[in-house]
Amino acid sequence: MSKIELLSYEFDVTAGDFIRGGESASQIKNVMQQLGVDSKIVKKICVACYEAEMNMVIHSFGGKIKATIFKDSIEMKFHDEGPGIEDIELAMKVGYSTASDDARNMGFGAGMGLPNIKKNSDEFEIESYKGKGTEIKLVINL
Ligand SMILES: Nc1ncnc2c1ncn2[C@@H]1O[C@H](COP(=O)(O)OP(=O)(O)OP(=O)(O)O)[C@@H](O)[C@H]1O
Ligand SMILES: [Mg+2]
Repeated sequence: MSKIELLSYEFDVTAGDFIRGGESASQIKNVMQQLGVDSKIVKKICVACYEAEMNMVIHSFGGKIKATIFKDSIEMKFHDEGPGIEDIELAMKVGYSTASDDARNMGFGAGMGLPNIKKNSDEFEIESYKGKGTEIKLVINL
């Protein structure tokens, strides 16, 4: 039996847009709060979404976020257009970062984003191809 979708949202993420970067995470947060989801779960969703969204702003050429809410879970997909990650195992390590000086000056680049996304997710998959792009799929149980 397939799960019934209650709501779904799509957002565009623009590379380098630090002004709008984080808006998707904050909109998803509002929806989850309105649905009465436990605040600890809302926090996990918000952290995972914000980190994946900002990775697209900082490291990618731009992409899309799709969030689908089911009765008992939220699924989020982050798909970008490149440049992709050559060594995913290395990128998943705490402290590994290729963030630019500009991004570091804005407080990014601790190399904590991907590990935190995984930690806050109940299911986590990452696929990436150098020159093609990156796709992250995660599920957080409500
Ligand atoms: N969407 C992406 N496209 C290309 N490379 C990425 C992407 N997301 C992550 N990376 C690569 O993986 C590295 C680790 O990502 P992670 O989010 O853990 O750290 P960070 O973004 O560098 O720093 P922080 O998230 O702590 O601000 C990045 O520095 C970058 O090299
Ligand atoms: Mg990051």
